[in-house]
Amino acid sequence: MQKTLPNKNPTEYNTWEALQKHQKKISQISIKEHFINEPNRLEYSVLKWEDFYVDFSKNRLDKKGFELLLEFAKEGKLKDAIDQQFIGEKINVTENRSVLHTALRSLKKEPIISDGKDVLPSLKLAKEKMYSFCEKVISGKWKGYSGKRISHVVNIGIGGSDLGPSMIVEALAHYENNLDVRFVSNVDGDHHQEILKGLNPETTIFVIVSKTFTTQETLSNANSIRSWFLKQAPKNSIGKHFVAVSTNIEKTTAFGIDPENIFPMDDWVGGRFSLWSTVGLSICLAVGPKKFQELLNGAGKMDAHFQNTSLEKNIPVVLALLSVWYNNFWDAESEALIPYSQYLKSLPAYLQQGIMESNGKSIGRDGNKVDYQTGTIIWGASGTNAQHAFFQLIHQGTKLIPADFIGFKKDLKGNKDHQNKLMANFIAQTEALMNGKTKEQVMDELEESSMDINQIKKIAPFKVFEGNKPTNTILIEALTPSSIGALIALYEHKIYVQGILWNIYSYDQWGVELGKQLANVILDEIQGNDIHPHDPSTKALLNELKD
Ligand code: F6P
Repeated sequence: MQKTLPNKNPTEYNTWEALQKHQKKISQISIKEHFINEPNRLEYSVLKWEDFYVDFSKNRLDKKGFELLLEFAKEGKLKDAIDQQFIGEKINVTENRSVLHTALRSLKKEPIISDGKDVLPSLKLAKEKMYSFCEKVISGKWKGYSGKRISHVVNIGIGGSDLGPSMIVEALAHYENNLDVRFVSNVDGDHHQEILKGLNPETTIFVIVSKTFTTQETLSNANSIRSWFLKQAPKNSIGKHFVAVSTNIEKTTAFGIDPENIFPMDDWVGGRFSLWSTVGLSICLAVGPKKFQELLNGAGKMDAHFQNTSLEKNIPVVLALLSVWYNNFWDAESEALIPYSQYLKSLPAYLQQGIMESNGKSIGRDGNKVDYQTGTIIWGASGTNAQHAFFQLIHQGTKLIPADFIGFKKDLKGNKDHQNKLMANFIAQTEALMNGKTKEQVMDELEESSMDINQIKKIAPFKVFEGNKPTNTILIEALTPSSIGALIALYEHKIYVQGILWNIYSYDQWGVELGKQLANVILDEIQGNDIHPHDPSTKALLNELKD
């Protein structure tokens, strides 16, 4: 029988009040002091799994607080909720769907049932079709209309149909083959013009990715690009150059895509969780099926860790609980994500969709407006660049910003000098954020210079760092398809855990759907049709657009 997700306002849990009290109790104890009070702190606050070393010791949390958070998760029946997701129950209630992105990378052979049907056989077929297509394109067997091999790929999609594939293609650039893979997403006409610059239609393949095949941006870009293509290529060559990924076979065929070139996906894959499906076609073209499979396997291993590991050693669960701790008990509003790898510079933007589209909700699973904070604001950039941009605010600003630092023990090109410097920054920052710098230290430093004492006294307060800024360190052996797969899966599961505990539905996105409707109404008016009633500001803006 279909089980429903737990449904209770978390502020009514016994542990909620206990956590509030505990926060008050330890609010004046610094992270540095926790280390003194707990000589064995690392024993519970370092988690080792495969090639991941996760250190959450630099947090405003002691062992008692950690235990309370674990109790909180138990009170929220988290374990049951995790199982419900993996076995395909319809936990995306408002869209009446299962949530099975985990099936796409499942390492198990047992059937996974959705709507009474094992999803694995059709997934296998879709994957084989994708792998075989990619092999043909990469090897040069697949020829363009004039008989030349394909050298360029353009992915046309937006949101989950763009962010995941583009982030991973960039992240795995070290492993890419001979194909140049580009992405066009924005309906801004200048975007596709820029992407098309220098492209030869004879040697380019266009991958239209749209789960619904109704998204204005994607269809506009696909139409414009098709017109550009047909200016140079014969009409009957579309089949060799346009392929599509979608759940909407009817609309895809109507667009003119050869049914042979449609790569199906299932509606139980949410857009922002879809890079593991045929939506990952551009990734597979960029790095080849073998590496794509390694990406899936890395995620599959993280799934097994998430499903089978006790809460206190479960990396996604622990990171989610820490995030809830700051969001709901310390009033932190945002979280920073700093990958110390230029390959991962788009990870924060990717996870902004994953996290904020999933948990940016204010209606609880009971249908009522929540009276507590839910989804955090996510932002970030690659280190060390971020250090020279917004770290000032994290170090000395007025806001509490917990940050995840993600780094790799080894670089990919073997440049020891640069890698040492990168990692020195990676470690130095988390240490400095925790330790800060006292006035005495600042004065001592300044006294060593030739500055006079009055000047020193004047300047010193500006150079003080309060410290006590929380960070998690995620240190991974190397950036490989497998480790990036595991890392993304980690954050996906963190999202779900938080959604469960906040009593919200993480897998719909009604807030974004609204934008799609609104834009069409205004478009009508920009094109000179219907005049709908608007407020004075909107009316004036529309007038500004008139020639
Ligand atoms: O922006 C809302 C959204 O539905 C996202 O969730 C999704 O990733 C994106 O639009 C693209 O949708 P589609 O793949 O259907 O074109």
